[in-house]
Amino acid sequence: MNILIIGSGGREHALAWRCAQDYFVKNVFVCPGNAGTYLENKVSNVEMDSSDFNAIEKFCVKENIELVIVGPEQPLVMGLTDFLQSKNIKTFGPSKNAAQLEGSKTFSKDFFVKYNIPTAGYKSFNNYEESIHHLDLISYPTVVKADGLAAGKGVIICENKDEAVDALNSIFKDKAFGPAGNKVVIEDFLDGEEASFIAVVSKNKIIPLVTSQDHKAVGDGDVGLNTGGMGAYSPAPIVTDAIHKKILDEVMYPTMQGLIDEGTPYLGFLYAGLMIKDDDIKVLEFNCRFGDPETQPILLRLNSSLVELCLSAINDELDTYSIEWNEKHSCGVVIASEGYPESYESNKEVSFAAYEEENAKLFHAGTLFNNDKVFTSGGRVFCATALGNNLKEAQQNAYNLVDKVNFEGAFFRKDIGNKGIK
Ligand code: AMP
Ligand code: GLY
Repeated sequence: MNILIIGSGGREHALAWRCAQDYFVKNVFVCPGNAGTYLENKVSNVEMDSSDFNAIEKFCVKENIELVIVGPEQPLVMGLTDFLQSKNIKTFGPSKNAAQLEGSKTFSKDFFVKYNIPTAGYKSFNNYEESIHHLDLISYPTVVKADGLAAGKGVIICENKDEAVDALNSIFKDKAFGPAGNKVVIEDFLDGEEASFIAVVSKNKIIPLVTSQDHKAVGDGDVGLNTGGMGAYSPAPIVTDAIHKKILDEVMYPTMQGLIDEGTPYLGFLYAGLMIKDDDIKVLEFNCRFGDPETQPILLRLNSSLVELCLSAINDELDTYSIEWNEKHSCGVVIASEGYPESYESNKEVSFAAYEEENAKLFHAGTLFNNDKVFTSGGRVFCATALGNNLKEAQQNAYNLVDKVNFEGAFFRKDIGNKGIK
């Protein structure tokens, strides 16, 4: 069978790589893909605008595509799944309405309150003056968030009122996040350790994936600006069996049921970003897709078929699918362009020292292939991902792989996984 994957990041390289491993898969197309997907066996890139739904439909018909997996949030929030499913093309991803869980922070916070899902206290505003007035009524630190999609960068942690005023000015007045900042959420700062809980959800059925932890801040020790994620490892020991059960009972099942009650049952990867402190859990955000970079270490551990997992969810047969995992630990370290998550230069030629891919995989993100060479084309360029018998070994293997890759201005965090090793 033929498969189409929408997206161009490290997550999509990992999805394509995993799909291509199934013997019954003939071709995996990635729109638009990167140098990593270009070089992958059985995988090819397709130059198409992922917001041109008609072009995608035409391509699916022409290439006899039997499964579409939508990687990033933008096409989901724009309704790509609804469109393709209305043309009888099997598509794995939530509907436009269900994707509002990620597409609007006000929507998701109101949803949490309605369905009694634990989250930080908040208030949302579409009026600048009222939001400024609110700053006199709260304690600090506080968190100011643009309502809409901002590529993981629309959240500003403010130590005091001055910083919060600056944040509101940049969102409301300077339009730092464009229309995503027409509304803001101001919420209580939560203390604790973060974890990513990702599941495959199909209507009233859930298969939780193995746990993981991301590293959002750009610098070692979690300092500096927030990014899309600088590295992740799996499993995350912070999610003990008791916490795991609590997340399912208090977050995942109520969310799944709430979406059914709203008339927008879920299909796809559902990602809860959580803050955990002792045995207290709170939801920071929902994403309507697989995490990037969490996908890379998680898929390195998946032994059963990803294609069958997605198809059984689409066919409402998730209860017949038995998910199998490699018991090893995994760790992925993002290699980024100097300057990221702010402005950075692209088009740097990448050199690779020889390496073995056993127990390790270099996933590409912001790369492109030209004249037999790989060049950088984005902020996050690679995710060097590896397995190990324990997290320490997985971390070592991942950093050994990082050492094999070089380009001008490359940087990476040196402490990915340390929190899980302590
Ligand atoms: P979000 O997009 O809402 O998940 O926020 C991105 C990142 O900002 C999270 O992964 C946290 O690191 C941080 N963050 C968001 N909300 C809070 C909060 N209420 N308290 C502390 N940190 C937060
Ligand atoms: N790694 C965070 C995200 O995918 O949003």
